[in-house]
Amino acid sequence: MEENHSQEFLIHKQIILSDAMNVWLLVLLFFFLYFWVRLVLNEAIFIPLPISTIRKMLKLAKVNKKDLLYDLGAGDGRVVIIAAKEFGCKAVGIERSALLAAICRFRIRRAGLQDKIKIIEKNYFDVNLSRATVITTYLSKRQNEKLAPKLKKELRKGTRIVSASHVFPGLKLIKKIKTGHFYTYLYKI
Ligand SMILES: C[S@@+](CC[C@H](N)C(=O)[O-])C[C@H]1O[C@@H](n2cnc3c(N)ncnc32)[C@H](O)[C@@H]1O
Repeated sequence: MEENHSQEFLIHKQIILSDAMNVWLLVLLFFFLYFWVRLVLNEAIFIPLPISTIRKMLKLAKVNKKDLLYDLGAGDGRVVIIAAKEFGCKAVGIERSALLAAICRFRIRRAGLQDKIKIIEKNYFDVNLSRATVITTYLSKRQNEKLAPKLKKELRKGTRIVSASHVFPGLKLIKKIKTGHFYTYLYKI
């Protein structure tokens, strides 16, 4: 009787474990498909920059407390948070994903930086960028190609643009530095 009981318990445990594994496999498959489709479309998917690279980018652009920095595709908010906290500027993060925008707002509240940072939950092509003195990006080749004309048209003279990993065709390159396994580019309007 007792043997039957423990056998039943083992079978039950195995079923639960295999169900859990199936759920994890489905989650993995979903993420694989998500990244694959976005990569094939050359979209800028959420891949956060290392903190050390962000500091190098902000130093390269000489960000200071007089600046208003816009991060196009703010992800989890790390760029705007470091810019405001360590470089003293005001910052705006533009992020189209509702989930990531919520994470940004949560992290900003936790850091007590609500007075210095604003998150706009929108496509950056639909946002007027003319107030920015510094723009930061970590996007894709295709996104940069599409963005370059907007930046040229909208930004004021003297605005600095720092782009991690991808160039902005047609903009005036000031400097490029090696940051990890890719280059970061500084442009000026
Ligand atoms: C590579 S991540 C960079 C995140 C963050 N800036 C960083 O450096 O850690 C690119 C981000 O851009 C966002 N994004 C892509 N296209 C966008 C668009 N058209 N408008 C707003 N956000 C966009 C993605 O959701 C993603 O969070």
